[in-house]
Amino acid sequence: MNKLIIGNFKMNTTPKEFKEYSIALATKCKGTKNDVVVCPPFTHLSVAKEILSGSNVEYGAQNICEEEKGAFTGEVSAKMIKDLGASYVIVGHSERRAKFKETDRLINKKIKTALANGLKVILCVGENLQTRESKQAAIFVRKQLDDDLKGMYENELEGVVIAYEPVWAIGTGKFATKKDITKMVEVIRKEIENQFSAKAAQSINVLYGGSVNISNYKNIISNEAINGALIGGASLNVDNFSVIARENY
Ligand code: PGA
Repeated sequence: MNKLIIGNFKMNTTPKEFKEYSIALATKCKGTKNDVVVCPPFTHLSVAKEILSGSNVEYGAQNICEEEKGAFTGEVSAKMIKDLGASYVIVGHSERRAKFKETDRLINKKIKTALANGLKVILCVGENLQTRESKQAAIFVRKQLDDDLKGMYENELEGVVIAYEPVWAIGTGKFATKKDITKMVEVIRKEIENQFSAKAAQSINVLYGGSVNISNYKNIISNEAINGALIGGASLNVDNFSVIARENY
């Protein structure tokens, strides 16, 4: 089964290191049936354009400003990253929600801005440990989806991929069980059906993210309930990431 494999570099590597990485990744990913995407820091996107254009590796950014342009010192717009050939942008990552206080309202605005500029959105949702332990995870994720996708039309959803990333699994080495992932993906699809339609629920891509690595990736990604994975730490090693990207699932 063809999967979508996305690497999230977070704030790691220099543009020079990324150049070497991209050259190796493009070579290693030749002929893979999976869709492969890397999301490096903004400063690396021109390198991505130079090296990855024409390869079968796509690339994206990790964030955008919700505004189109203007007096927003230090921000980067959707149009700017689109101009550098990016196809995707990650929105609502739990690190941005927690450390940069991004609200669902802001995330909703970012999604609309990204889509209006022709970018595909990787929308991250997921509960923290406390919420999971109090058995509120499904309610919590449904509310995130409800707020993040508010006011959107069904046809706009074609540009959205949902990444279920339980916060307690990110960068911790702990990962959700197959049963937990399958159950949450069902919750996500049901919520999309309620908000949009059964057709939209069926066709939307849902990924899993959280401590996917070279030892556990096969078991996690071969789960038929998911369409791929969002990979942080393990994407930084080009050998490991390309093995995951090339796998026949
Ligand atoms: P991780 O990160 O694979 O290092 O857990 C995933 C993510 O934050 O997207």
